[in-house]
Amino acid sequence: MIKLTMAVLATLVAAPALAQAPAQKLSAYKGDPVAGAKVFTACKVCHSPEAGKNMIGPSLFGVVGRTSGSVKGFNYSAANKAGHIKWTPDNLFTYLLNPRKMVPGTTMAYAGLPNPQKRADLIAYLGTLK
Ligand code: HEC
Repeated sequence: MIKLTMAVLATLVAAPALAQAPAQKLSAYKGDPVAGAKVFTACKVCHSPEAGKNMIGPSLFGVVGRTSGSVKGFNYSAANKAGHIKWTPDNLFTYLLNPRKMVPGTTMAYAGLPNPQKRADLIAYLGTLK
């Protein structure tokens, strides 16, 4: 009986989190590029917004719309190159939630950005890098 109660409680606690996950869609959020520039601070340690400037990570200039693993002169992991992902805003929205889930084996040491509004802002900012 106690076990059963615990199981029911666990389900009740987990349910809202589970229900939210698939409902997250970029189209439900309005991205603000100015707010996104601040979110980008977390990426700047490894990524430059300038064209041709690769750091620990590839330059993110023009990233929206380009194919994964396509920056010249950057030594990508095989996982990233083999992904052939088109970095559309929707794909970036999924990727940035959990990069290692979308690209297993990636060398990008970034756990992910759970807040969907912040991801939408960040993607709006990335869209200005062109
Ligand atoms: C600790 C360093 C680090 C941080 C922090 C980091 N990245 Fe990365 N990122 C990388 C590396 C390294 C790669 C290349 C991964 C590979 O080859 O597997 C990468 C790859 C990427 C790619 C794929 C690029 C391509 O050309 O295919 C995107 C998009 C990206 N990062 C966006 C971001 C964003 C946005 C942030 C901030 C929220 C961020 N990254 C934070 C290191 C980092």
